[in-house]
This record gives sequence, C-alpha cells and structure tokens, in this order.
Amino acid sequence: MRSFQLANESSPLSLTPDFILPEDKRPQLSEVSTLTSIPIIDLNDSMAIQNISQACEEYGFFQIVNHGVPEEVCNKMMAAASDFFELAPERRAQFFTRDHKKEVKLYSFYLKVEDGRKINMWSESFSHHWHSVDHFIHLLPENFGLSTGLDLEEDCFQKMLGDKPTLKAQANFYPPCPDPELTLGLAVHTDLNALTVRLQSEGVTGLQVIKDGKWVSVPTVPNAFIINLGDQIQVLSNGRYRSVHHRAVTNKLHSRVSMAMFYGPNIDAVIGPIQDLIDEEHPPKYKNYRYGDFLQEFFKQEGTRRMVKELFELPN
Ligand code: OGA
Ligand code: NI
Repeated sequence: MRSFQLANESSPLSLTPDFILPEDKRPQLSEVSTLTSIPIIDLNDSMAIQNISQACEEYGFFQIVNHGVPEEVCNKMMAAASDFFELAPERRAQFFTRDHKKEVKLYSFYLKVEDGRKINMWSESFSHHWHSVDHFIHLLPENFGLSTGLDLEEDCFQKMLGDKPTLKAQANFYPPCPDPELTLGLAVHTDLNALTVRLQSEGVTGLQVIKDGKWVSVPTVPNAFIINLGDQIQVLSNGRYRSVHHRAVTNKLHSRVSMAMFYGPNIDAVIGPIQDLIDEEHPPKYKNYRYGDFLQEFFKQEGTRRMVKELFELPN
C-alpha cells in the first residue's frame, strides 16, 4: 500500500494516538445495519417527484439515477479530485488553511473529546466556492419535488433561498486506514446548507447515515448522485423534512474520494419556517435568522458535534 501524507503533517500518515477515538466515539462497524438502504430514484420514472418527496420525509437521504449528467463528465470530475490528492504533500500544503473565509482551501477536520484533546479525522478536504449559476440555472429541472411534496408552490424552497445561492464544491479524500474500527473519516454531523449533491468513488463505501436509530451504509451505485437535505431545509419545512445525521468511515484497503456540491441560501437570506406550513396545530419550531449569522455560529462550534439550528429553536 502506498503511503499517504496529509498536507499539514511532516511524516506519512499512520494510526498514531491523535487519530484514535475514545471507545465511546468509535464507529462499531459490526453494528451497522445491512438490512435497510436509502432509496434509489430513477428521474425518468413517472413517479420520480412523488418518490423524492417520500424519500425526503422518510429518509432525508436518497440516490438519483438517470439524472442527465453525462457519465464522462462525472468521471472527469472524480478523476480531477483524485489527481489533486495525488499531488505531493508540499504542493497540497500551499492550499492548507484553517481560515474559513478563504475561497479555496484544504483542511482536515478534528473532533474535540472530553479531556480537551483534538482527535484528527482520517481524511483531507479541498473546497472552493462555485461561480454564479445565473447562466445555466434555466437549464435545471424546475420541479424537483421538494416543494410540491409539502403542497407548496413549485419553486417555494428555491425562492426562500434567495437569488445567488451559495454554492461550494468539496472533495473529500479518505486514505486507506490500517484499522477502520479506531477512527473515522468524518465524525457524525448534519450538513449546514440546504441540499447536498454528491458523487462517491465506485466500489468503495464509507458514507453512513442514521435511519431509525441505526447506522446504514450508502451503497455505491454506478453514476448515481447521492442527495441529502441540510439544516436549512429542516428549518424552512418546520421540521417536516429532516437534515439527517451522517458520517464517513474509512476503508482498510482502498482510498475513497467523494465529491460534493453544497447548495445553500444566499448569505443574506432570512431563513425560518415557511408561513404556509404554520398554523395553530403546527406552530413554528424555529425563529427566523440571517443565513450569514447561522454560518458564523457554525464556525464557532468547530470540532464539536455541532448544535447550530438548535440555537434557533423556539420553545413549544
Ligand atoms: C460531508 C460528508 C461524506 C462523504 O462532506 O459533509 O458528509 O462520503 N461527506 O465524504
Ligand atoms: Ni456531510
């Protein structure tokens, strides 16, 4: 196995104590359910919209096939992401930063544990903001099923997110790990944005989501996009749609790459439960906030199992 060196380290990656989680934070891989899986939705299916809204309410995670993005484009994108992590560590190090405001950045996540130590995650992430979508947004499907599933106007969610949504592309790299039971690629979290669209390496699993209190692994499906809802959709839908907890585990033999597009509100958009979803029986569960303020709080909670939307919860 070829050794890998993280950009912010001075020696090849090995399972040193600063990667080893306390016992109660380890992934317990033997308990991951193999019985359930998240839905796979064919966008050519006439029931696609109904299937999506059902998947949003029941799972918050699903995969889509026949999405219309050519296979070649997806392969090229994954190859570009893999190539980046093949660069020598010194070259990658030029991008390494802990400054969240940088538009282009390479970083590694960590988890603060009880005794105050920071445990490193077995991964490296490269991200950059995406240019405006103005010149191609008219090509995107107008009715994706999220709004109609809640009997809202077709473009209701999209309107609430404001024009010029924030878009960020992020590639995660998980090198092979000698003992996947001891560490994690990414600790459990929910995505802070509205919607995440992701591709993962073919044949190497690693992403796991919570379904009915159990961890389930997201299988690799050729040419599928994995879609998950983020915190902003949970708040906008007043809790009808959930931003599901997930994590990434490592693989003993193979490295894994995942490539995500995070789609979020305009930084100045005011986010709160959509008026049409509120009535006497369904009082608002969250107060309104500016998305930029949510982001600020998100970065303040770095290294913890973040509780950001919880701060904006209203007492019932
Ligand atoms: C993330 C994430 C999982 C993966 O980047 O937010 O959940 O499979 N990644 O890389
Ligand atoms: Ni995530």
